Amino acid sequence: MVQHAPTGGRCFVVPTYNEAPNVVRLLARLTGLYPDPDTGFLIVDDESPDGTGRLVREFAVSDGRVRLLEGPRRGLGPACVRGMVHALDAGGADTIVLMDADGSHDPVDAERLLARLGAGGPADGADVAIGSRYVPGAAIDPRSRLGRRRLHRWGNRLARWAAGLRGVHDCTSGFQAIRADALRAAKVEEVRSRGHAFRVELLHRLVHAGARVVEEPIRFHGRERGRTKLGAGSILEFSCRIWQLGLAGHRTVIRYGLVGLAGAVVNLALFQALLTLGLHKFLASPIATELSIVSNFLLNDYWTFAHRNVAGSRRLRGLRYNFVALATLALSYATFVGLSLLFPRASPVLLQACGIAPAALLNYFTNSRWTFRETRRKTPAEPPFPA
Ligand code: GDD
Ligand code: MN
Repeated sequence: MVQHAPTGGRCFVVPTYNEAPNVVRLLARLTGLYPDPDTGFLIVDDESPDGTGRLVREFAVSDGRVRLLEGPRRGLGPACVRGMVHALDAGGADTIVLMDADGSHDPVDAERLLARLGAGGPADGADVAIGSRYVPGAAIDPRSRLGRRRLHRWGNRLARWAAGLRGVHDCTSGFQAIRADALRAAKVEEVRSRGHAFRVELLHRLVHAGARVVEEPIRFHGRERGRTKLGAGSILEFSCRIWQLGLAGHRTVIRYGLVGLAGAVVNLALFQALLTLGLHKFLASPIATELSIVSNFLLNDYWTFAHRNVAGSRRLRGLRYNFVALATLALSYATFVGLSLLFPRASPVLLQACGIAPAALLNYFTNSRWTFRETRRKTPAEPPFPA
């Protein structure tokens, strides 16, 4: 349980699970680098069986600013949330620094993150400063395993794209300084992800609550001792959550769906009309389909995405839209054929329906993020995020 209530100022929140080989060294460095009495160090430990909690308690005897928050194991996300909520509510911290305990993040770099918030300085600083691995000046320990580095990099790219966090280069970083007001505005206590996805969900909330985000290059070190805790369950959750975040709260998605339904009606009505005019069905079918693609494009261009400052000419968007329609068709067909080969006895209607789902996602996301992409606003180093 909590030993002392922190006294305001800034608070480092560090989640730990089986970090006995690392936690004392981290605390020694942190407390040495940040000696002022207003800084707190909150270790959020999930009752690690290796005795991490005991080591923290022992350390806290020599430095009363160090505190331990213990609880049953619920995962990385819930631990960070618990720690941040505690630091805000019980501790009244005005700034939080989140970081890993395994030596990946250098405590020295926190100084630069805090400086970007203008903490204690001018009020025009950022709300969130990310310790970023993917901006110029950053470095990733070449000794860390290539497979892991690739997984992190591609996971990050995919999340940026799917969750709509364009403009943030490192949206899965575990090293961040965040202002308390931004965390409150983002309702940090409502974050639900348990694993890696937690980073993306928190950032998504912060951005949508209007937080100004900046990135500082860091040196990312490979874990030296102990093992990573994030496994297959976390990857699965991550793969689902990022799309969900991209879809969340968007009237655009609803409009897009309505236009899609309208397209089906237009397609069938035109097909019927062309047949009545005497056209052969093999000719009437592609014509009706292409015309419904064009009408969908126009509806989306004039209505669904009307609020966006979209890039390029309408003709270019139209071409892209058609191209995406073809790619979508290919994907749904490939899914259908693949599933038919895997499950030859399943109902074809069911398999056809299964093909629609990935195709619809691909269709929406590619059109939303590419065809009707919002133009990058011309700002200096740090572009603000579209609301
Ligand atoms: N309390 C608690 N409970 N802490 C946990 C848990 C948990 O279930 N799981 C992990 N941690 C702690 C670890 O002890 C460590 O201090 C930190 O969270 C990061 O865990 P790692 O296991 O070292 O994660 P990683 O190196 O695979 O991933 C890091 O980089 C990713 C970005 O590529 C983390 O910072 C991720 O959050 C980040 O997304
Ligand atoms: Mn790590």
